[in-house]
Amino acid sequence: MNKDISEILLDENRLEQITVDISEQINSDYKGKSILIVGVLKGSFIFLADLMKKITADCTLDFIAVSSYGASTESSGHIRLTKDFSEDLTDRHVLIVEDILDTGNTLSYVKEYIFRKGAASVKICTLLDKPSRRTKPIYADYAGAVIEDFFVVGYGLDYDERYRNLPYVGILKEEVYQNQNKTKE
Ligand code: PRP
Repeated sequence: MNKDISEILLDENRLEQITVDISEQINSDYKGKSILIVGVLKGSFIFLADLMKKITADCTLDFIAVSSYGASTESSGHIRLTKDFSEDLTDRHVLIVEDILDTGNTLSYVKEYIFRKGAASVKICTLLDKPSRRTKPIYADYAGAVIEDFFVVGYGLDYDERYRNLPYVGILKEEVYQNQNKTKE
């Protein structure tokens, strides 16, 4: 285990099972439809890759990137699109794939933006859901694990751009970030 991690929250077996379970639900729910899978960069990239390998429904892939700024300790609610869609969203069935649904600021913005682009439907799939931190009325249609307010990294999630490579989701030791003026995952 990485020395900066205090506890593994989701190990590799659990993560594999999560992608199996969610992909089965998605394959059933979207039977006969074509899905536009949208990854929200950067944190979603490993979960998205593992999940997409198990999707048997007809699908295409696109990415967007967003950044939040303002308050340093958490997502401010001021969201800016830094990479737009390549695909036309008109009448598409969009499945957003995220690593974590926290305050909900990011996905509230993204979901509304996708509807404004003319999508027929929009659903949210997130690896991690932290409902205790929610400030926006937004919910996951598919969630891998509901977690408490831990500071988690790994499997795509970063702290200051590090730890995305860890093959598990782990709790970051407080000493790693306690002197920093940020608590962003
Ligand atoms: C993280 C995560 C979500 C967002 C969730 O992104 O990937 O997009 O925060 O937080 P919210 O629900 O409070 O908006 P981050 O800004 O850390 O960028 P990253 O994906 O590049 O790591």
